[in-house]
Amino acid sequence: MKDYKIIIIDFGSQYTQLIARRVREIGVYSLVMPSSINPQEIKKIKPDGLILSGGPESVTSTQSQRINKGLIDLEIPILGICYGMQTLSNELGGEVINSDIHEFGHAEISLKNNSPIFKNIHSKNNVLDVWMSHGDKVNVLPKSFEVIASSKDCQIAGFQSSDKKIFGLQFHPEVTHTNQGKEILSNFVFDICGCKKNWSTKDIINSMIQDVKTKVKDDKVILGLSGGVDSSVVAMLLNKAIGSQLICIFVDHGLLRLGEVEEVMTTFKDLGIDIRLSKASDIFISRLSGVLDPEKKRKIIGNTFIDVFEKEAKKIKNVDWLAQGTIYPDVIESSSDDHNSSVIKSHHNVGGLPERMNLKLLEPIRQLFKDEVRKIGKELETPNHILSRHPFPGPGLGIRIMGEVLKERVGTLQKADKIFIDELKKNNLYDSLSQAFVVYLPIKSVGVVGDERRYEDVLALRAVETVDFMTAKWAHLPYEFIGKVSNRIVNEISTVSRVVYDCTGKPPATIEWE
Ligand code: XMP
Repeated sequence: MKDYKIIIIDFGSQYTQLIARRVREIGVYSLVMPSSINPQEIKKIKPDGLILSGGPESVTSTQSQRINKGLIDLEIPILGICYGMQTLSNELGGEVINSDIHEFGHAEISLKNNSPIFKNIHSKNNVLDVWMSHGDKVNVLPKSFEVIASSKDCQIAGFQSSDKKIFGLQFHPEVTHTNQGKEILSNFVFDICGCKKNWSTKDIINSMIQDVKTKVKDDKVILGLSGGVDSSVVAMLLNKAIGSQLICIFVDHGLLRLGEVEEVMTTFKDLGIDIRLSKASDIFISRLSGVLDPEKKRKIIGNTFIDVFEKEAKKIKNVDWLAQGTIYPDVIESSSDDHNSSVIKSHHNVGGLPERMNLKLLEPIRQLFKDEVRKIGKELETPNHILSRHPFPGPGLGIRIMGEVLKERVGTLQKADKIFIDELKKNNLYDSLSQAFVVYLPIKSVGVVGDERRYEDVLALRAVETVDFMTAKWAHLPYEFIGKVSNRIVNEISTVSRVVYDCTGKPPATIEWE
């Protein structure tokens, strides 16, 4: 079957990845490319359609990013969304103005001229509920274009040149608040671009397995397995593709959750996967001695991980490949030309490992979004307790202990975290949260236990709900539940005198405390 694909050209919208996911959800492979991409590179990829994303800029400013005219000349069907529509209009001789009236949120549009992009869309009196987010608007159509949708405050809320297969929508079909947005995107992808479905879980797995086999042949592959979703799914996939040629290394940096080492080792051994444990907590703890700065801690943990992993890997002879659980958001993030964003935290734990190891890099899930990784993991029969786990950061408890990382503090935190998580599971609350954990604070507080004064540690409980981890709400856990967890922690861990609950969202806070 032909290799159908849609390219999303990224103008910096917060919804760019959402557009890519929606296209995949309707069954066609999609990729995201920066707006600075050269049209010749696009031509080589041979996409069946282009979708121009929205973006935060104004085409009325001379500094803003523009669609490269060469992309239009490729004569591939184009759909411009919001800013994407405006830059199309500008390049094609239309006019865009700053509007006095901004439309944010729900709007009603009336559909006009029977556009193929609205084929089979059910609407009452041709009126559709959509979601808008714009200040600028197209004021004059480019030559030979016609209006296909209008709202009260935006006469040209959609346009088309159906013979050139160029479409523009001022609203966002990719967000769920737009009624039948998925169907509108389907019309573009299937009817206008002529794609056929090629992106189901089974297709993806088969093509990834084939790809791994072709690349790796009879070579040996090593994989750093952390027990998190991404590396675990890579292990399951490689096990299926190349079986005993895969060797996994699990580094215990001493900053894992209570019982985690045994749980991960047993799970993968039971699946018949070759997994080797490297016990390295002493070296991590000693290198972290006296270090208080969060970014320094992250760097030390990342670098030490590389040292330990490299030493362990060298014990295995004749290895050619290093596998990693890189996923698509990591790829987009590192290739984006977003030079304005500031580094809030350095999340890339083990950047530099492939270069140092001098091995060929195998990244079988680098095309997938997180929800796709989970679906594939399920199909590959990855144990559910691994797939449904909350994310756990690479630097582990190292960034959940404020101040210096000391062995006793790790012990206290591990015990308290286990109580919190066990209670969440027991009370059926774990799966409704995106992430929950305990944080160690480097202060002492007075308490009274029995008739005794206690001057001991303070811990904070953190629980959040989020879809994308870019923003998050603090979870409104029942007071009784928080009270029970607090009681258990203070009663069962004699080095804790007080428990507090973190009620800060992201923003302004981040999810982790460091
Ligand atoms: P923040 O704290 O930035 O976290 O709101 C967002 C998500 O990223 C995870 N996180 C990390 N993951 N290495 C990781 O692998 C890191 O250094 C790191 N820092 C934060 C965090 O747990 C949350 O899921």
